[in-house]
Amino acid sequence: MILRNEKEVEGKFVIHTLLPLLGVTPERWFQEVNFGSIRLDFLVMPLGGRSPACLPNSLIIEAKHPRQVLDRHTRRLWRYMTQLGIDYAILTNGREFCFYRQSQLVFRCANGNLRDEKIQQIRQVLEPPIRKTFAPPPCPPPLPKERTMNVITVYHNKGGVGKTTTVINLAATLSRKGYQILIIDLDSQANTTFAAGLMKFLTEEEDDLQEKNVYHVIESANTAIADVVRLGTFSNPPVQVLPSHISLVEYEYKLVNAPAAKNRLSRKLSKVASDYDFVIIDTPPSLNIFASIAMLTTDYLIIPSDLKPFSNEGLRNVRKFLAEIDEERETQQRPPVHVLGLLPSKISTNPRFREYSLPRRLEAAKKYGFQVFESVIFERDDLAKSLEQVTIEGNYDVPNPQSVLDFKPDSESAGEFEALTQEVLQKISTHQKKGM
Ligand SMILES: Nc1ncnc2c1ncn2[C@@H]1O[C@H](COP(=O)(O)OP(=O)(O)OP(=O)(O)O)[C@@H](O)[C@H]1O
Ligand SMILES: [Mg+2]
Repeated sequence: MILRNEKEVEGKFVIHTLLPLLGVTPERWFQEVNFGSIRLDFLVMPLGGRSPACLPNSLIIEAKHPRQVLDRHTRRLWRYMTQLGIDYAILTNGREFCFYRQSQLVFRCANGNLRDEKIQQIRQVLEPPIRKTFAPPPCPPPLPKERTMNVITVYHNKGGVGKTTTVINLAATLSRKGYQILIIDLDSQANTTFAAGLMKFLTEEEDDLQEKNVYHVIESANTAIADVVRLGTFSNPPVQVLPSHISLVEYEYKLVNAPAAKNRLSRKLSKVASDYDFVIIDTPPSLNIFASIAMLTTDYLIIPSDLKPFSNEGLRNVRKFLAEIDEERETQQRPPVHVLGLLPSKISTNPRFREYSLPRRLEAAKKYGFQVFESVIFERDDLAKSLEQVTIEGNYDVPNPQSVLDFKPDSESAGEFEALTQEVLQKISTHQKKGM
């Protein structure tokens, strides 16, 4: 088939060849669909799907001029997928054809080689009963009929102890168990936002987080969580993320002088309580206003610590901070933050260290009066590497961080996060039973 321009790629190839091949009837596809500033060439709904809730299983098709190089357009397409929460996309210039799932290339081929089994792969996406081919979460445990949102904050005022690593991997593990998760990044370093795969842009001009991040939810009574939330690309099933931005640091002083803002995140979360099982908040390594907001919002607290002397001494600050927060919560008739425990994190695997030093450090940490998790997250290369993954797009390395469960599901780190998650679920369940 000879295609001379973008219009012909759209008409002759997409409309007259591809859509019929995929078995998509005309009422299921839409051309030139606008979502705010995003304009999609084609949007294809899954079988039986016509509501916004079906968007994750929908398919974007972007058609380019036959002379265009597809790699130049992938990053923009990924941005569309992430911002709209759509899992599947096709990019084609009439010569070449790329099919993506959650910003990952599933296959690439010349248009002439678009044969049955490839067509079948895409059809499965659009016909939900067969969609199970795409790695469903392994056996989710039965969930309570009514969703109870549990908010867990991961905090220590000592930097670099594994807070962000814990947030990302705990979220991925819970998501695999079938729970609905929202991550909130309240750290202006935005490491969780990066680790969630939401910073694939290369230059400030392409930064699409500046105007829509967690600050806007906190600062304005009018911005809803749904207006800002994105779909992370670090895990399967994917997790929603309320991103942070480096500019949060500039706004600290504004929020300190705006008392209403402190409890706004908590209030807005209560409006979406039926959407999530767990909200996991990452915090800055400080005692600033964003850390206070996290503590005022949360039900539970996990304190990762490498158990080194400064980290242990920092626990004194954490205790004092908690006492102040609990005092404020009492005035709001809210229960104190329930501390799930101190989580030994980034712990050396050296056998001598484990035998001799670790027990002493654990004893030292216990002095500060926090329960210590049985689970331990050891210092391991797989875990550090999982967040440093990149994909090569044309001449660029594009960040493509993964949870360790997605990067190396059989690794020791993945096992450690599985054990931690079981312990967290157990502790929350025990706490809730006591409260009944
Ligand atoms: N268990 C681990 N094994 C190996 N590397 C780890 C482990 N935990 C964290 N790291 C690495 O240590 C660095 C700091 O970890 P992380 O960002 O999770 O800490 P943090 O407490 O969130 O830091 P900050 O206080 O700056 O936000 C990262 O490079 C991360 O990849
Ligand atoms: Mg961090």
